[in-house]
Amino acid sequence: MKDKLQELRQMRMKARLGGGEKRIAEQHAKGKQTARERIEMLLDSGTFQELGGLATHNFTDFGMADKRFPGDGVITGFGKLDGRRIAIYAQDFTVLGGSFSQVQAQKICKIMELAQESGIPVIGLLDSGGARIQEGVKSLAAYGELFVRNVLASGVVPQISVQMGPCAGGSVYSPALTDFVIMVKKTGYMFITGPEVIKAVTGEQVDFESLGGAMVHNSVSGVAHFAADDEGSALRIVKELLNYLPLNNSEDPPRVTPYDDPARRDESLDHLIPESSDEPYDMRQVVSGVFDRGSFLEVHAHYAKNALIGFARLDGYPVGVVANQPLFIAGVLDTDSADKIARFVRFCDAFNLPIITFVDCPGYLPGVAQEHGGIIRHGAKIIYSYCEATVPKISVVVRKAMGGAYIAMSSKQMRTDLAYAWPSAEIAVMGPEGAVNILYREEISKAANPAERRQQLIQEYVDKFHNPYSAADMGQIDEVIEPSTTRLRLITALEILRSKVSSNPPKKHGLMPM
Ligand code: HXC
Repeated sequence: MKDKLQELRQMRMKARLGGGEKRIAEQHAKGKQTARERIEMLLDSGTFQELGGLATHNFTDFGMADKRFPGDGVITGFGKLDGRRIAIYAQDFTVLGGSFSQVQAQKICKIMELAQESGIPVIGLLDSGGARIQEGVKSLAAYGELFVRNVLASGVVPQISVQMGPCAGGSVYSPALTDFVIMVKKTGYMFITGPEVIKAVTGEQVDFESLGGAMVHNSVSGVAHFAADDEGSALRIVKELLNYLPLNNSEDPPRVTPYDDPARRDESLDHLIPESSDEPYDMRQVVSGVFDRGSFLEVHAHYAKNALIGFARLDGYPVGVVANQPLFIAGVLDTDSADKIARFVRFCDAFNLPIITFVDCPGYLPGVAQEHGGIIRHGAKIIYSYCEATVPKISVVVRKAMGGAYIAMSSKQMRTDLAYAWPSAEIAVMGPEGAVNILYREEISKAANPAERRQQLIQEYVDKFHNPYSAADMGQIDEVIEPSTTRLRLITALEILRSKVSSNPPKKHGLMPM
């Protein structure tokens, strides 16, 4: 038995070295940690239980007989993060570039199945050149196995991907099927085909960074939700994110011990909205005045900045926050912000997070580029996601709620439980200039002083609609509230809605516009 134990210890020792000391040194020289170091950095100390640590492939072609490494380039298992259970896999770039193999698929799928059945989030730390070329179609089939697990787990347990190296092919498609993608700046890359293939096929010359670097995917493509300065920061984002999320879709999100007075009034909110309705202000000031101090975790911060989304807490309870951001293109809705909002609303709905929406939006962005870019199709996603969501939903019209934006941004008619408005709310079909031009073109042109008449009509329109009272009169707004009382209003409303029961008609699935 002693020899057998010795043998096992030696095998484990070898497994710890992955692709060997030279490869580990190369990995460190690139500013990257090894897969095991990353797992140790993330998990509570001593909680990692590895599975499949000794598994290897059985391929012999292309010199593979000499390239067998215990674990086969991925480390998989379970552990605890802040005392809560998670499933984790980390690809090991030191072994054949972390390339994805049949064995990798078996190992990752195994923990994903256990995680789904036990209701535990899955965290992937990716660092892989995609399908292992030497395994041919078998590694492609292996990706199919993984994608099925990603999709079946979607909406059941949270799935988070951290891109920590050059990730290609399937190593970007699997993350794209997960809920959040975090990229490490300067070392994390995502692309379907790398610069060399692109040059050969299209003749375009591009480097890793401008093709698929962290900021490209955070600000341009929208594939990634967070950009981290280094690996440690990326793993801290995983921790922070999980603090707001339930382990699975049958649990409530975890409440923290409340640390901020529920009745706290932020008087600055009473003076935040500028006199001129075209003047911008920072919606983040509303968020910081209303939610528990310092609790806002912004998601997709660099993408479609005209929309603001993220997680926050109210009296310790996690919520999802959606808002227009007047600082960027007046907070209009366009194709990208529609995607950003709709996806987030669906995530919150899947994982039992109440959705609080702050509205200050002049409408959908007009223009040929937006129309041809599919603003109808994309914009419909916001409507679909809010209508479909059965979690508690509360909206607060802060300033503009014009036309399509009024209805799309969690309007009361779209199953929003409570609709509040600030006295600064402007709820109308469109802005005064446009409305007057359409309704009174002839009258204005025939007036003795067209400019003066036009101004009069604009003022009449403003007097009628640039307030929340018509909407409140019709019951479309439940209550007009003082801005500084918003926090207490939301906390007491959520107390009522916490036991809300609502469902959708039975169906295989809806057909959300894609
Ligand atoms: C087998 C691979 C590999 C792969 C890298 N390696 N990718 N081995 N299969 N897919 C190996 C290299 O041969 C090398 O081994 C080691 O990993 C490190 O790779 P380098 O190229 O030296 O590293 P680097 O310069 O940092 O470049 C990393 C890289 C590049 C950008 C990932 O290796 C690359 O472009 N790989 C191929 C990427 C790709 O096109 N994948 C798509 C696969 S198709 P040695 O022993 O020489 O050091 C796919 C289909 C999915 O995934 C379909 C989804 C729908």
